[in-house]
Amino acid sequence: MINLILFGPPGSGKGTQAVKLAEKYDLIHISTGDLFRYEMGNDTPLGLKAKEFISKGELVPDSITVGMLSNKLDKHPDSVGFILDGFPRTIAQCEALDEIFSEKEMAISKLIALDVAEDELVKRLVERGKTSGRADDSDSNIIKNRIKVYHAETSPVYNYYDEMKLSHTVDGIGSIEDIFGRLCATIDS
Ligand code: C5P
Ligand code: MG
Repeated sequence: MINLILFGPPGSGKGTQAVKLAEKYDLIHISTGDLFRYEMGNDTPLGLKAKEFISKGELVPDSITVGMLSNKLDKHPDSVGFILDGFPRTIAQCEALDEIFSEKEMAISKLIALDVAEDELVKRLVERGKTSGRADDSDSNIIKNRIKVYHAETSPVYNYYDEMKLSHTVDGIGSIEDIFGRLCATIDS
């Protein structure tokens, strides 16, 4: 089984690359952001709750996010592995994931971080906002807050897995195919 965490700030290319990696390695792609957007699109109670936070560029409370992720994992008991995109985003989410995985006798294989400079992130998100229809991509203050929250709450996740020698960094600048090649080389090494 391969279980990957694709890590990086908003706009670093996690979603784009996760789709390609899932196809190549036959993994189930779980994007917690996409799951939230699905719930919001259907105005479910979970979606309405999540929207309170997402619309401000804040993180949804851990208990909600962890519960949603856990349900999604349970839907694919026979998968050869998962690629987690946008989760875990806090140390509490890391600890919860450890617990869920140990119950299922699963383990994280690697965390791979996409390294992209901040001015490039803002540029990409503003560009994506023109077509994504995502309210949180369409306002520069929300974009800035998402990056701030990333530094404050999410960046420690890298160190959490680094202590277990599981963290790797890949240059996230270049063509989609070049970055994909770097990611595959890291996965295969
Ligand atoms: O991963 P993505 O950037 O698509 O997530 C969009 C938004 O969903 C985040 O900015 C955040 O508000 C929320 N989110 C969260 N916790 C996660 C994943 C996403 O709060 N683990
Ligand atoms: Mg994404």
